[in-house]
Amino acid sequence: MKKILITGGAGFIGSHVVRHFVNKYPDYQIFNLDALTYAGNLENIKDIESKSNYTFVKGDIVDEVFINELFVTHNFDGVLHLAAESHVDRSIEDPLAFVKTNVIGTMNLLNAAKNQWKANFGGKRFYHISTDEVYGSLGAEGLFTETTPYDPNSPYSASKASSDHFVRAYGETYGLPYVLTNCSNNYGSYHFPEKLIPLFINNIINNKPLPVYGDGNYTRDWLFVEDHAIAIDLVFHQGKNHETYNIGGFNEWKNIDLVRLLCKIMDQKLEREPGTSQNLITYVKDRPGHDLRYAIDASKINKELGWKPSVTFEQGLEKTINWYLNNGEWLQNVTSGSYKEYYEKQYS
Ligand code: NAD
Ligand code: TYD
Repeated sequence: MKKILITGGAGFIGSHVVRHFVNKYPDYQIFNLDALTYAGNLENIKDIESKSNYTFVKGDIVDEVFINELFVTHNFDGVLHLAAESHVDRSIEDPLAFVKTNVIGTMNLLNAAKNQWKANFGGKRFYHISTDEVYGSLGAEGLFTETTPYDPNSPYSASKASSDHFVRAYGETYGLPYVLTNCSNNYGSYHFPEKLIPLFINNIINNKPLPVYGDGNYTRDWLFVEDHAIAIDLVFHQGKNHETYNIGGFNEWKNIDLVRLLCKIMDQKLEREPGTSQNLITYVKDRPGHDLRYAIDASKINKELGWKPSVTFEQGLEKTINWYLNNGEWLQNVTSGSYKEYYEKQYS
């Protein structure tokens, strides 16, 4: 039986990855390590918590002693590392928190894996899940490829770039078997309503303003989170050691166009007069250092591993909006903060 450590599995993408692995690989023992920060929510994975191949471990990757002990106790065969501080706006307010979790936390995992595995790296794998934001900002033309130089602009992307570099350095210096992916913006269920799509869905439901930063002409490449989980599975099992793969949605949208589309669909779903939600759009002060455009060339993972998104943006957005409309309790618990009580109820 393979023992796999997934970090950050109570967060948005991590919860989808944990669910995917627990359901698809009954022979794997999946350990979900999460500190349950504001972004960690065990309600995201309550459907799999009683499965026999799943174990939740509450803990902080910044705690070096704890991480070392965890590796000694379990001797994992593989690590999928997703735990991170993930929100650009928060990184502008508190950059040090991002250095602690994203850089020091990743270092602790790398050291523990290296020390545990160094006698025999055979069959082991450290997978770092990263972002396209490490490449900085594109102009109107071009796409990020795996060889685009790193040029991060926000404290968030600088911290992820730093951790990517350490992962590579551990591969080169110590021979640690690793794979790394840089993915574009995800959307889907269980997304914390501080990021654009879930925040705006929640605000439309509650008739609250939709704060569009700057002129709204910023572009992001959106990928349905369940397709990201499938890509992660492929890279973990079939990716080449010491390789990077870019993952993207082939799906660029200017923020303002995406917000208008969301408003249109939400008016239909909520049976409101056409144009009602658009009236909530409010242009606000721009984010400092706001990257103009992200767009991924995902041809390497497509050619080498046969991956491409399985749903169109229309299908993914429809699923996502329906999920939020059908899961008012989840949204209510997240916005009120009461989701924090779930751990106490289930695990104490
Ligand atoms: P998230 O903020 O939703 O979840 C992060 C999870 O990590 C939470 O469950 C949190 O409790 C946990 N965590 C935070 N600090 C921790 C610590 N010190 N120790 C243990 N656990 C801790 O993030 P997400 O959007 O799901 O992103 C997951 C990963 O994917 C991140 O590494 C992020 O950089 C990367 N990524 C995200 C996107 C995106 O669009 N969201 C795109 C590309 C890559
Ligand atoms: P976000 O979801 O925070 O992801 P990222 O900054 O990592 O790409 O933001 C997506 C885009 O939406 C980005 O250009 C910033 C913009 N945005 C707004 O205009 N208003 C908002 O309230 C938020 C959260 C984001």
